[in-house]
Amino acid sequence: MSAAREFHFEDTDFDYIRDVIGSHTGIVLSDAKRNMVYSRLSRRLRALNLNTFTDYCNLLREEDETELINFINAITTNLTSFFREKHHFEYLEKALIPKFLQENTNKRIRIWSAGCSTGEEPYTIAMVLKESIPNIKTWDVKILATDLDSNVVATAKAGIYTAERIEGISPALKKRWFTKNDDKVQVSSELKELITFNQLNLMHQWPFKGPFDLVFCRNVVIYFSKDTQRELVTRYADYTRDDGHLFLGHSESLFKVTDRYKLLRNTMYQKVK
Ligand SMILES: C[S@@+](CC[C@H](N)C(=O)[O-])C[C@H]1O[C@@H](n2cnc3c(N)ncnc32)[C@H](O)[C@@H]1O
Repeated sequence: MSAAREFHFEDTDFDYIRDVIGSHTGIVLSDAKRNMVYSRLSRRLRALNLNTFTDYCNLLREEDETELINFINAITTNLTSFFREKHHFEYLEKALIPKFLQENTNKRIRIWSAGCSTGEEPYTIAMVLKESIPNIKTWDVKILATDLDSNVVATAKAGIYTAERIEGISPALKKRWFTKNDDKVQVSSELKELITFNQLNLMHQWPFKGPFDLVFCRNVVIYFSKDTQRELVTRYADYTRDDGHLFLGHSESLFKVTDRYKLLRNTMYQKVK
């Protein structure tokens, strides 16, 4: 490691960090992620007044529960935005909601945003549902939004964003679903009431039964090994109703992962068994 670096970072530290993150979260850190790990964890070393990554790894070895949470929160990549990969929301509005309106005689819809990060994804889903289901108050609609990282779940729950975060949203939607709050914007309580936010590690047991109509798990499995992806997607199929849907992120695919879903069009899948 270069002498200019603030903290000493041994190969053995990186290997240990990879093992801990892999076993707790399923996230695979390749060699290329070494600098990213250094910079994300340097903040923890500064906060804890530690001089080397070996000291930091020793703290994790002591199984300090609080630090384990901080560690996981520091390593996760939380990039997201409102209407990210907007073809998914167009499909929801134009193909799936009309089908729900025609076929869901019980007027019940269950959606899971798994790996919801700071909440833009579930709030986008909620906006589309509110805009497209007439008389939605007579429907039983619930969105479950979960993430491993407790910090992003807290942000998602608060629903307060900088004004730049909603710049790409149409003026009509901004007006209907956000209010100005000093230099920030606040998501309307009408959207919030559709969503339940919870911290959840996808590698652990899931404390609910489903079945979901739709699962959004976008830009999450890309960080997992193929085996972990296979296990996870098989569980999604078990928790999805027959012919329900799964949405993945733009660089993710179920090719050679599972045959329990068929590909409808890019990154949109339907359960077949
Ligand atoms: C890049 S963000 C994707 C956010 C959103 N789904 C989107 O596409 O805009 C990936 C999220 O997956 C979460 N994540 C990673 N591993 C996880 C795990 N084992 N269980 C639950 N969430 C996980 C991260 O904390 C992060 O917030």
